Amino acid sequence: MKERSQFSSKFGMLAAAVGSAVGLGNIWKFPYVAGQNGGGAFLLVYLLCVLIMGFPALITELSIGRMAQTGPISAFKKLTGNNRWTFIGVLGIITSFLVLSFYFVVAGWSLEYIYQSISTMSFKGMTTADLNNAFDQFSTNTMRPYIWLVTFIVMSGLVIYMGVQKGIEKGSKVMMPMLFAIMVYLAVHALLTNSSPEGYEFYLLADFSKITPTVVLQALGQSFFSLSIGIGVLLTYGSYVKEGNIVITGLQISILDTLIAFMAGLVIFPTVFSFGIEANAGPELAFVAMPAVFSQMTGGMVFAILFFLLLALAALTSTISLYEVMVAMLNDTFGLKRGLANLIVGVVVAILGIICCNSINGHSIFTLCGMTCFDWCDTITSNYFLPIGGLSMMLFFGWGCSRKKVHDAMIEFGMKEWFYKIYIVFVRFVIPILIVLIMLNQFGVLKI
Ligand code: PHE
Repeated sequence: MKERSQFSSKFGMLAAAVGSAVGLGNIWKFPYVAGQNGGGAFLLVYLLCVLIMGFPALITELSIGRMAQTGPISAFKKLTGNNRWTFIGVLGIITSFLVLSFYFVVAGWSLEYIYQSISTMSFKGMTTADLNNAFDQFSTNTMRPYIWLVTFIVMSGLVIYMGVQKGIEKGSKVMMPMLFAIMVYLAVHALLTNSSPEGYEFYLLADFSKITPTVVLQALGQSFFSLSIGIGVLLTYGSYVKEGNIVITGLQISILDTLIAFMAGLVIFPTVFSFGIEANAGPELAFVAMPAVFSQMTGGMVFAILFFLLLALAALTSTISLYEVMVAMLNDTFGLKRGLANLIVGVVVAILGIICCNSINGHSIFTLCGMTCFDWCDTITSNYFLPIGGLSMMLFFGWGCSRKKVHDAMIEFGMKEWFYKIYIVFVRFVIPILIVLIMLNQFGVLKI
């Protein structure tokens, strides 16, 4: 029996979990999905999703790992003695591949923008049209996006190969606060230099008529994506710890993650309106709006480089969390050597990533229902696979496990009895019903 690695402290586990949660999902995806889904209306529904569903789901996933003390494929069998729930682990692995294939593409963009911050002297003198053009030219280039994509995959593979994740996670204890500080600075800067209130109105005032079934589904998906729920990453991290109050850990991760996403909106939307950028521009939004911010800032170059560097590092702590889970699974379940498992994951993800990368900006080899491969991987994972993964974990925890075992474990992990009573009702009834209703509503099977 191999010795299982443990986090040296509960802070180690917190840093790793926050590292996984905070990433492109907060700074790149949140603003673009909010921009496409009505701004303030989306923000409101998003916050409700984090509070009502994301936070309990996060505690659930961490707890399953902590109880089982093993990774996602074997955890469910270990806790119930049968194989009925193993599909959750398998779904998680498939989802991880799909997430990584588009995530690496965008992570590559962050590297390109470090380079562009220097080569254009922090986008000096560039108009909105120039910035849009720069993005289009880069993303349709037949070399650069692929080179950055592969570079990022190799970087992640190397971190795993050298076993220095812990080091990176320790580093993220410094980098995350820096990222946070820079976002606060940029948000205040936006507030002070912005003359148009439309950006704030768009982002902070909820127009209830804009809340459609799609907006609700997108908010649910985005909250699970941003918190890294439903894939097995948190389960794995939970399995590395034996101490610490689970509710406090869950709160810390949820609050930090949500704050960083919220700040990204506070920087991007005022800029979008004062620079005449389309709020619903889609995946390129942050890569046009952020350069616009730096183009007019004193000391813009330092901030631009620092920002894209921190964004790349935040993306790296998220990619290694997914990458490690896959390598560990190939190693545990199929007995592959870690080095070989690492290579296989890298090659498969590179192939999928190249297809996604190729599908940007009208270059798609195929489109399905009007969506490119990139869009498919992006939307289908967030909106369906992660909520279904999270839902299955909740059904497992609420209905598949012995009630006494779950109760005793949660109390042992530091949950108060009164909180448990509410929590378990959410896990057994409220959240599963809500997720099913949201999905049925989206498909038009049900009209609310
Ligand atoms: N939460 C990460 C982000 O916001 C993405 C992620 C999703 C990581 C699922 C792991 C698992 O960037």
